[in-house]
Amino acid sequence: MNLRRTVPLLLSALVAASAPATGTDSGATALPSTPTLREAAGPGLLIGCSVETRALEEPRIATMVARQFSCLTADNEMMPALLVDAAGQYTFERGDRIAAFAQAHRLPLFGHMLLWHHVTRDWLFKDARGEPLSRDTALANLRRYIETVAGHYRGKVVAWDVVNEALSDQPGEYLRDTPALRAIGEDYIAQAFEFAHAAAPDAELYYNDYNIEEPDKRAKALRLVRALQARGVRIDAIGIQGHWNLHHPSPATIADAIRDFHATGLKVLITELDVDVLPRTTSGADLVSVEEGPNPYPDGLPAEVQQQLADRYREIFTALLRPPGVAMITFWGSDDGHTWLNDYPVKRRTNHPLLFDRAAQPKPAFQAVIDVLRAAAAAPVAPDRRAGAALTPDPTSAR
Ligand code: XIL
Repeated sequence: MNLRRTVPLLLSALVAASAPATGTDSGATALPSTPTLREAAGPGLLIGCSVETRALEEPRIATMVARQFSCLTADNEMMPALLVDAAGQYTFERGDRIAAFAQAHRLPLFGHMLLWHHVTRDWLFKDARGEPLSRDTALANLRRYIETVAGHYRGKVVAWDVVNEALSDQPGEYLRDTPALRAIGEDYIAQAFEFAHAAAPDAELYYNDYNIEEPDKRAKALRLVRALQARGVRIDAIGIQGHWNLHHPSPATIADAIRDFHATGLKVLITELDVDVLPRTTSGADLVSVEEGPNPYPDGLPAEVQQQLADRYREIFTALLRPPGVAMITFWGSDDGHTWLNDYPVKRRTNHPLLFDRAAQPKPAFQAVIDVLRAAAAAPVAPDRRAGAALTPDPTSAR
């Protein structure tokens, strides 16, 4: 542990503990009587959401986020295609605004992500004709990208999703066919973790993917983690994205996955939770959207579906918090007006997957989650099992 860096962070957390929990944004609506997720979660569990700068520009969203959550993730503003252009020019402005918001509200910030085959730049791994670069050139590009980004955010993010969605969805195929795999080979994942550790030695490092709670993909995730561990690569946690719906996956599948991932000795995190309430024909989160599809609830969620969503969140949180449980639960998006599910897997729909509606008001699902969190908070997680433990101040002292 680096005491020179950790002690000031601990001190700032203690200062934060005496500060009011509401945000400082002018014109913001405070709802002092509403319970908060972070208080209900108690000391052992971080509860967060992903945010975009345009969401934080709305005072009521910014206030709600600062009051309700105990950690943050940048939604898309730390993705390679947002940080660096086709010519290799970097712009950190929007990512920095999220880092500044997190810092102002003493919220640990999780970095998403250093390598993903979507929302990336072709020049990292392909030549001008679209052919794979040589292994050495591709590795040098990857190293420079990770050094630049993880170096820029050193001390500002507590952890990185180093590699996102490297596993194949095809039965029998281990790794997804990506430009990085073609140019570098199977060890590109280990290399990315090594570059990240060199650039940000204090940050925790995670592998993140969707549908890895399902037995087939779970086995691939376990194979990957064990290979990284055998090579001596730093890896702290497995992030289960958690893009789920009203019926899938089952609570038993979720609990089994957490148990299996814990057996590797790593922490287990839910990094991108949402519950899709609209009809869809695909499961998971592979980023391809179609133009047309049913949009049954453009004017709001009917009461019976609202209740189904609350019951589903109660069931999911009960499974997530059953010991050994997870160390962090982060929602993908702050509220129903700021969720990728309004444009995925069908563009321009009105989705309702989160705990807060478009006016940042809590939905029935919010109370269901509060109830489960309060019941589970009685059994705190040991400090070394917490997400971002390397840099995260003890939440007991901060809340
Ligand atoms: C989504 C973002 O929310 C969108 O803004 C962006 O255009 C595409 O990506 N799995 C992930 C996230 O790991 O990065 C994705 O986020 C959602 C699926």
